Amino acid sequence: MNAHVLANVATTIAMKQTPAGLDGLIAGETAISTLDHGLHYRGYALEDLVRNATYTEVAYLLLRGELPTTEALADFRAILAEAAEVPAAVVQLLQELPLHIAPIDALRTAISALAHFDEQANETDDTANLGKAIRLLGQVPVLIAARHRLTRGEELAGSDPELSFAGNFLSMLTGQIPTARDERALEQSLICYADLEFNASTFTARIVASTGSDLHSAITAGVGALKGPLHGGANEDVLDLLLSVESASQAEKFVRDAIAKKRRLAGFGHRIYRDRTDPRAVVLKDICSDLATTDEQRRLEEIADAIEAAMWSHKQLRPNVDWPTARLYRMLGLDAELFTPLFAAARVAGWSAHVLEQQRDNRLITPRAKYVGPPPRALLPLRER
Ligand SMILES: CC(C)(COP(=O)(O)OP(=O)(O)OC[C@H]1O[C@@H](n2cnc3c(N)ncnc32)[C@H](O)[C@@H]1OP(=O)(O)O)[C@@H](O)C(=O)NCCC(=O)NCCS
Repeated sequence: MNAHVLANVATTIAMKQTPAGLDGLIAGETAISTLDHGLHYRGYALEDLVRNATYTEVAYLLLRGELPTTEALADFRAILAEAAEVPAAVVQLLQELPLHIAPIDALRTAISALAHFDEQANETDDTANLGKAIRLLGQVPVLIAARHRLTRGEELAGSDPELSFAGNFLSMLTGQIPTARDERALEQSLICYADLEFNASTFTARIVASTGSDLHSAITAGVGALKGPLHGGANEDVLDLLLSVESASQAEKFVRDAIAKKRRLAGFGHRIYRDRTDPRAVVLKDICSDLATTDEQRRLEEIADAIEAAMWSHKQLRPNVDWPTARLYRMLGLDAELFTPLFAAARVAGWSAHVLEQQRDNRLITPRAKYVGPPPRALLPLRER
């Protein structure tokens, strides 16, 4: 056999071995994050970052590879604050989109539109990519908050550079300065959502970047992948699910019935975290317990615990990050339709870091498919069919 034939045989064997959904397949290298041994961003354990870092420091870490010094952080915050200026035409677009459009869809459109106002939109070198990534990081919360307030007929709440990323985000959404407790809880959830190796939306962004396309296109595509109910869209579905169970005593029957009907319960299961709990779910559950102070909030925590126990006993499935996050965001007073956009805002750091990494050492991502269609056949002219 010549080399060409051998290569084809090898490809065919490899294709046969490729599992559905690329399950367990190593699809490339990254130095940004890993799910081995829990979750680490650039070598730092998630738990450590949640306890001791701010979201802005984590975003810097993901984008630049190291945690910032005090000086570097101040510069980074200043650039982020400057970026919070969103072109008036994009705000106008957000105002004109039909009311029924979900906030995550409006966000996808607005990120795409932002590219038209970025002078470096089509530049893909490292410096341009980093500049655009930082601008997007600052702009995305503004877009989400603007759409949220505009659809309610409320005046836009300005961005305050003195506040933290999370504090500013909450204040732009609600029009009020948040308590330190709420600000920190949002911050910790954003840290949990910031990156996760080659998850579906990040892989999508990397594929777009691998064609030599631009950062805004990659992030727009990432948002499109994120909104699906099997990915980031799950955190909105979790709240519906939780609120449909009236008490902890009903959880067992609810889960039994759902499993019998082969229904997938949002907030449970994970492609990678199968034999251990998603570390983000562990961290955020503790934060929810601390936040829950009213009777209603404690009741929801009890229902959540009962559903968790029943899911484990009936299906051996563990909660994922979206399970506690939905409760956490509800306790912050946020509407469910904002949950996936909040996830997207946090993931901008991860997506962008992956676009930078992909384009630094690029090879076009183009896999093969195992063909299962009809064999080669003769085409009959139209009049003979
Ligand atoms: C995340 C998810 C897509 C991973 O799916 P996956 O790796 O393809 O999981 P599998 O399809 O191999 O599932 C294995 C089994 O668990 C079941 N399962 C997985 N997640 C489930 C869920 N959330 N609720 C009920 N059953 C579930 C599957 O139906 C399958 O059951 P079966 O063997 O009886 O057919 C899946 O767990 C899911 O749909 N979760 C709900 C959505 C969600 O929370 N997404 C956010 C993820 S961070």
